Amino acid sequence: MPAFVDRTSGAPEPRQVLRPHAEHAFAAELAALAAQDDRPRPARWKLSPWAVATYLLGGTLPDGTVITPKYVGPRRIVEVAVTTLATDRALLLLGVPGTAKTWVSEHLAAAVSGDSTLLVQGTAGTPEEAIRYGWNYAELLAHGPSRDALVPSPVLRAMAEGTTVRVEELTRIPADVQDTLITILSEKTLPIPELGQEVQAVRGFNLIATANDRDRGVNDLSSALRRRFNTVVLPLPETAEAEVDIVTRRVDQIGRSLDLPSAPEGTDEIRRVVTVFRELRDGLTSDGRTKVKSPSGTLSTAEAISVVTGGLALSAHFGDGVLRPDDIAAGVLGAVVRDPAADRVVWQEYLETVVREREGWQDFYRACREVTV
Ligand SMILES: Nc1ncnc2c1ncn2[C@@H]1O[C@H](COP(=O)(O)OP(=O)(O)OP(=O)(O)O)[C@@H](O)[C@H]1O
Ligand SMILES: [Mg+2]
Repeated sequence: MPAFVDRTSGAPEPRQVLRPHAEHAFAAELAALAAQDDRPRPARWKLSPWAVATYLLGGTLPDGTVITPKYVGPRRIVEVAVTTLATDRALLLLGVPGTAKTWVSEHLAAAVSGDSTLLVQGTAGTPEEAIRYGWNYAELLAHGPSRDALVPSPVLRAMAEGTTVRVEELTRIPADVQDTLITILSEKTLPIPELGQEVQAVRGFNLIATANDRDRGVNDLSSALRRRFNTVVLPLPETAEAEVDIVTRRVDQIGRSLDLPSAPEGTDEIRRVVTVFRELRDGLTSDGRTKVKSPSGTLSTAEAISVVTGGLALSAHFGDGVLRPDDIAAGVLGAVVRDPAADRVVWQEYLETVVREREGWQDFYRACREVTV
């Protein structure tokens, strides 16, 4: 029998878990922040808004504890997001794919409520029960509708406990199901007509939703629902340096959890992946001189992270443990060429006109040529 983790019984052994929740992975940082945070905390918050922002952006505490940055980006964005959660408005994180919407929402929930696991994953098939409540049918048939037969959704649990709930990909959820949130967010209550009862949200309850720019128009939020949210747009990294920094940090973290070698000598390759992705995304070379065509894929920071992680794994298992152009070329090609016909032309043109001519990129050019057939 597989051992299931009882979600209420606390943290599983962190080293056994493939991807620990933020509140477990960064438990030490959160504890240090809580111990040294003497600013006022909103009801049921584990930390003050200032400490939550420090947790996300990183910093050094008075006793010397270093808080690693989780989100690399404008401080103001994080401050607005955190402040929103302390008000009666919900938070909507919006942005193109791979701009850390999910990542930020998980860390916000972990820092504010100490629990990032109350989550509704939005899909085209998300039913109303996922936002309201369902029933345990055995119990329902045996004893009729009762509190015991009720299966609360993550949203209902967060309301009752006064914590943060996350809704992922809100705009993928069918419009009528989305609108279930209106009463919850404006009246802060969820009626349960079957029981003649209601669940009123306890102070500390709030909701973080994420939505992808690319899904715009799939199931746009009704204006009634939109008004219940403060929207914060997460931008793409402004400079190549910032993006290299993000990729380096995340690759290091992910690599450690997968027992991969670190990439101290690989920063050259990271810089190349980031440069290629940025130039193709922007349709312009970094010196601003040459226009290039953009492929159909998104080429986000998140994809750069997975290309480099994949490269590290290749070098660890089939190379000499040092990240080389050969290790990343196939990954770059896979990310750029999503549509085998159109994207391949775009890629080949970029390869021949930009990569080939660039000083110091000959080894990378050759590696890319080899995998591009
Ligand atoms: N500005 C940033 N700071 C820190 N990490 C970042 C940043 N941008 C992207 N990342 C990293 O990118 C990865 C993917 O982010 P995430 O999955 O949160 O993106 P998303 O915006 O939710 O994308 P999608 O729209 O595809 O759901 C994460 O590992 C995250 O750490
Ligand atoms: Mg996401």
